[in-house]
Order: sequence, then C-alpha cells, then structure tokens
Amino acid sequence: MYLHGSSRINPNGHLEIGGIDSIDLTAEYGTPLYVYDIGLIRERASSFKSAFDKAKVKAKVAYASKAFSSIAMIQLMQEEGLYLDIVSAGELFTALAAGFPAERIHFHGNNKSQDEIKLALEHGVGCIVIDNFHEIELLDLICRDLGIKTKILLRVTPGVNAYTHKYMTTGQIDSKFGFDLLNGQADEAIQLVTESASFEMSGFHYHLGSQIVDITRFVLAVDEIFKYIKKWKDHYSYVPQVLNLGGGFGIRYTDQDNPLTPEIYVEKIIEKVKEKVSELMIDIPEIWIEPGRSLVGEAGTTLYTVGSQKVVPSIRTYLAVDGGMSDNLRPSLYQAKHEAALANKMTETPDRIVTVAGKCCESGDTLIWDVPLPDPQAGDLLAVFCTGAYGYSMANNYNRLPRPAVVFVEDGEAQLVVKRETYEHILQLDLPYNTKASK
Ligand code: LLP
Repeated sequence: MYLHGSSRINPNGHLEIGGIDSIDLTAEYGTPLYVYDIGLIRERASSFKSAFDKAKVKAKVAYASKAFSSIAMIQLMQEEGLYLDIVSAGELFTALAAGFPAERIHFHGNNKSQDEIKLALEHGVGCIVIDNFHEIELLDLICRDLGIKTKILLRVTPGVNAYTHKYMTTGQIDSKFGFDLLNGQADEAIQLVTESASFEMSGFHYHLGSQIVDITRFVLAVDEIFKYIKKWKDHYSYVPQVLNLGGGFGIRYTDQDNPLTPEIYVEKIIEKVKEKVSELMIDIPEIWIEPGRSLVGEAGTTLYTVGSQKVVPSIRTYLAVDGGMSDNLRPSLYQAKHEAALANKMTETPDRIVTVAGKCCESGDTLIWDVPLPDPQAGDLLAVFCTGAYGYSMANNYNRLPRPAVVFVEDGEAQLVVKRETYEHILQLDLPYNTKASK
C-alpha cells in the first residue's frame, strides 16, 4: 500500500488525509465519501507548469474537467492558473457557474450539438477543437450567423497505439475521434478551415488515450505529427502556432504502475518537439496539454463503511461496502485496479486476502478482487486509494443509490464541496404516471 500526497498514518493508527483523521471526516460527512487532498492537486498543477517554464516553452496547461467536474474543483484549477478542457455544455455550464473565464476554456467533443456550439460561442469560449467534417460545416454556419470569427484547433488522429486499456485509447486509426492523418482526411480539413473566413486556425490537437505510462508513445506521436507539419508547411505554407498534445499521463494506482513524474513527461515530449522544430527551421509552437487523471487521480480517496461478509470456503471472502460501481465504475468497466486499507486499523498487519464487493445488484460490482486487510469487521472504514479521476464523474444512481458527498481537505481543514445526494434528489425528476383509473 502506497500513501500519496499528505496521506499518512497518525498516532491513533488511523489514516489521515490533509491533516485530518479519516474517522473524523466520516463521522461528520458519512460514507461513502470522496476525499480530495487539495495540496497534492496544487503540487501536480505546479509541476506541469514549472516543467514548461524550465524548458522555456510557451505553454498552456488545461485541466480536463471530465476527470472530475464540479464548481469547487474548477475554482481550484482557476486558482492554480490552469486552463480548462470541456466536452459538453454541461461541463461548460459548470465552468461558467464556477466563474471560470470563458476565454480560458477549450471545447472538445466528437458530436457537439448546434446548441452546445452556440452556447460556447456566445460566452466567448477561447478555442473550439474541431473533430470532424460535420462540425466544420456546423461551426462555419453558426459563426457566420453570429458574425464572428473563432479560434480553432483541428483534432487529428496520429495512428499511434497508446498501449493502454482498449476503451482508453483514442489516437489509433480505428478511433471515433478526429481527422485521420494517414488517409488524407486531415489534409482536406486543413484546406477547408484555412479557406473559411469563420476560423482562425491556430493549430492541431491530438490525444492518444488515457493512463499511458510508456513515454515512447508520447514521443512517437510528436514524430508522427511533425511529418505532417512538414508536409503542410511545404504544400500549404501553413505552420501551426499551437500544438495541443492532449492528456493521458499515467498515474500510480498500484505497485504494478510505474508512471513518470509530470516534469519528466513534459521534459521528454518537449525534447522531441524542440528537435523537430529545429529540423524544420520553424518557431516552436505554443504547447498545450490537458491532463485530467494526473492532476486529480492520486489526490482522491474513497472512504466506505464495511458491512457484510460472505466466506466461500477455499475460494474467497467477499467483503461488502456501502458503495461500489455506483461511485467507482472503473473496476467493472476497465478491470481497473486499486489499493486499499482499513483506515481505522492502519497499524495492524494485513493477515488475509479479501475481495471488496459493492452493494449493487450485479456480480460485476467488485471494487478490488484481492486485497490484503487486517481482520475486517462490520463498521470498519475501508479507504480505496486513487479514486480522484473518473470516480465521481462517472458515478451513477444504479439501484437508486444516492451519490456520495465530496470533501476537500488541506492543512487540517475540511470543506464540503459536493453534498451527498438524498432520496429526494433521486426522485426529483420523476413524475407520476396518470393511470387509466385516475384520468
Ligand atoms: N484530452 C482529451 C481530448 C481527452 O479525451 C481526455 C480523456 C483527456 C484530455 C484527459 O485524459 P487524462 O489525462 O485524464 O488521462 N473514463 C476513463 C478515461 C476516459 C478518458 C477520456 N478522455 C477512465 O476512467 O479511465
């Protein structure tokens, strides 16, 4: 078990995060509870930014808000001087409600609706990342209608396998995202957008996938895009001012993962970019990145109360907690792995291996298949680590379970930033059926 950021074992033998005993946190806010170690998020944000400063490269670091979008999280990212990546009007609406400056927002998505695009343009979103031909037409029409010109990037698919879970790869040829580099779609798109008066074509975007720990993938993608940058320079005299290299930087979920630090990810990528621009004798474009997981993933811990146990003799013991796939879909969806500990028994030696199951009515609702724990009992507090990215954001109400609360902790202070859902919230959109008898 590895403790990230400010997490430590306190003198009571309890897990402490951000200077607060996890037992006190759950006494106040209940379980399941997402706890974010805000200091660790700040540390990651500043590591990404300072890596670019050190390399003396003009850059924008945008938080991919899909990893966890909430008013407070977005305000934190603003405080840390980041930009923001959104993929829907819902994420835009949240960012605007947080008071995030629209001009610092980049709008992604492979099927943005007319209403979403209009909303983004009306609020002055800084850049639209165009994904496909349909969007070129749609955006062109809307810009003409509104009488405006908008900054855009073209999303391209570099044809690089990210060597991560199949559902988390996006940069390969067989992907629903972006214009293909190899088959000429990207060339056609460039011609269209550079001819249109509606667009200021700032450059290119790609995103290889998520939870990538192999740096060679990021470096290879730079090589690939620069083959085309050379071609576009030669054929269309077009040189990008911006190169957005996406997110996807892997983190340490378990001791099987060996991620690099934000500094090293950036350093290696920039090294390659610098090599390529000097070969082409062009100015280095402004480099944008959009990490989600690597900013918030390791900072999140979910605290659960242990309930029932079922021993299947000679096979396994299932230990059930008061949440599950409703608050962390990743193990069911991607076979994702997490480490865990009993937060109230941190100094006791784990003496058995158990399987942590959720309370949803589904056999696939297993949070961790095999985890060593010290004699778990009903009422113990289970901490599952590294749940800060795509935990709450993919949480759901399966079995009508209310979604947990979220607290930020830092320097001994806790702040509730998302309230726990109540049963009333669960019913709030329901309307009664007018039965035949009542008509
Ligand atoms: N930029 C773009 C265009 C993206 O599509 C994504 C993630 C990111 C940035 C941020 O990637 P990150 O740094 O967080 O890896 N639900 C999955 C992850 C899906 C990621 C989707 N796109 C999971 O739980 O692993």
